[in-house]
Amino acid sequence: MSEKAQLIIEGKTIELPIVMGTENEKAIDISSLRGSTGYITIDPGYKNTGATSSAITFLDGEKGILRYRGYSIEDLAEKSSFLEVSYLLIYGELPNKPELEAFQKEITHHTLIHEDIKNILEGFPSNSHPMGVLSSLVSSLTAFYPESLDPNRSADEVDLSIKRLLAKIPTMAAWAFKNEIGHPANYPDNALNYCSNFLKMMFSVPSEKYDVDPVIANALDKLLILHADHEQNCSTSTVRIVGSSHASLYASIAAGISALWGPLHGGANQSVIEMLEGIQADGGDVKKYMDKAKDKNDSFRLMGFGHRVYKNFDPRATIIKKAADDVLEKLGVNDPILEIAKGLEVIALKDPYFVERKLYPNVDFYSGIIYRAIGIPTSMFTVMFTLGRLPGWIAQWKEMRENKEPIGRPRQVYTGNNLRRFKTVSER
Ligand code: CMC
Repeated sequence: MSEKAQLIIEGKTIELPIVMGTENEKAIDISSLRGSTGYITIDPGYKNTGATSSAITFLDGEKGILRYRGYSIEDLAEKSSFLEVSYLLIYGELPNKPELEAFQKEITHHTLIHEDIKNILEGFPSNSHPMGVLSSLVSSLTAFYPESLDPNRSADEVDLSIKRLLAKIPTMAAWAFKNEIGHPANYPDNALNYCSNFLKMMFSVPSEKYDVDPVIANALDKLLILHADHEQNCSTSTVRIVGSSHASLYASIAAGISALWGPLHGGANQSVIEMLEGIQADGGDVKKYMDKAKDKNDSFRLMGFGHRVYKNFDPRATIIKKAADDVLEKLGVNDPILEIAKGLEVIALKDPYFVERKLYPNVDFYSGIIYRAIGIPTSMFTVMFTLGRLPGWIAQWKEMRENKEPIGRPRQVYTGNNLRRFKTVSER
C-alpha cells in the first residue's frame, strides 16, 4: 500500500508508512519516528500499539470474531480436537490424517517426566498455588533438556522441545495438584487421549478404579480449544518479549504462565467463582454486588466482565455459556452459582454503566462453572487456562523466532528528578 500518514510536528510534516493487514486492519508504522523527529509515542497498557505482525489469530473485537489461522472458533470448537487445533496453531495448517496420527503419537510418547522433577515438587509446601509450581516446573525443563537453552539450534531440535512441552504439561499440572492436596502423583496412561489422560492423572487414586467420563473429557477438550490462542494479550506478549532475548522456549513459557496468573488475565476464572460463591454466601443479593461494581470508591469489579478488545460480545463466552448448560444437564448437576451468574448477566446487559462501557461477559465468566461441574478445584482453574493457551504461546514464540524479530525493548518518558548533587550521609 503506497498511502502514507502525515504527522505535523514542530511545524514540520513527516510521512509515516501505513501498514495494512489481510483483514484490512490499518496501522501507522512509527518505527522511524524517533530517528527523524526525536519523539516517541506513549501508550500505557499498549491499548493502541501493535507490537508485531502475526498470521496466527484474527480477532475483531467490535464484531465478536475470533479465528485461528483463518478458521472460525465456532467451527473449531464444534468439529475439531485440541491436539488438532494445537497442530494448526503451531504449524499453520490443519493436519491430514497421517499427520494428525503422527503428532498424537509423538505427544503421547513424551508424557512422562523425569523422576527428579518429583524431588523439585516435594520441595514445595503442600499448600503452594499450582500456578507457581507449574511455572517453576516448566522452567526446570531447561535443566533436564539443556539443549533447549539454545533456541538457535536446528528446526528439528526446537520442534522436539515444543512436543516435549505439550506432552509434559498435563503431567506437571496434575502433579502440581496432587502436591497441593498431599496425594501421590499418578503416572500418565498413554492408552488415553490428551484430556482423558490428564483427568485420570488428576482424579485417580491408587485405592479406587477410575474411569474417565467421556462427557467430561469432551467438555475439557472444547474448553482448551476456546483458550488456545488470543493474539497479543498480556501473557502472549510476555512470551514473545522474553523469547525475543533468545531465552529458551521453556523459560519464555514459564514467564507466560506467571503473566497469565493475575486476576485481570487468566486468574479471572478463579476470581469469578470466588466472587459468585461470595455472593451466594452473602444471601445471593445480585443487585448489591452490581452497585459495588459501579461504585468508583469501591475496588470491587465484576469479575468475568469486560475485555480489552471485545466491545460487543466475546464469541468464546457465547460458546461456553451453551456448553455450561449442556455439561450441567448431562452430568445432572444443579449448581445454584449458575443461576447467580445468569442473574448478574441479565442485569449487567441492561445496566447503563455496563452498556456505556461496553462491558460484556468474557470467556472466564462461565468457564469456571464448567470446571466446577467436572470436578476441577478452584485453585486449578488458571492451570486449565494454561493447558489451553500453551499451543498459542508456542505458535507465537515460534513465529517471533522465525520472523527474526528484534529484542523487545520499549521506551519511556522519564518523569523523575533532574541531575542532583550527591550528599554524603552526614549532609542529609
Ligand atoms: N467491573 C466494573 N467495571 C469495570 C469492569 C468490571 N469488570 N471492567 C471495566 N470496568 C470499567 C472501568 O472501571 C472503567 O470505567 P471508567 O471508564 O469509568 O474509569 C471502564 O470500565 C474501562 O475499564 P478499563 O479497566 O480501563 O479497561 P481495560 O481494557 O484496561 O481492562 C479488563 C480490561 C479485562 C482488565 C477489565 O475489564 C477487568 O478488570 N475485568 C475483570 C477481570 C476479568 O474478567 N478479566 C478476564 C479477561 S478475559 C480472559 C483473558 O483473556 O485474560
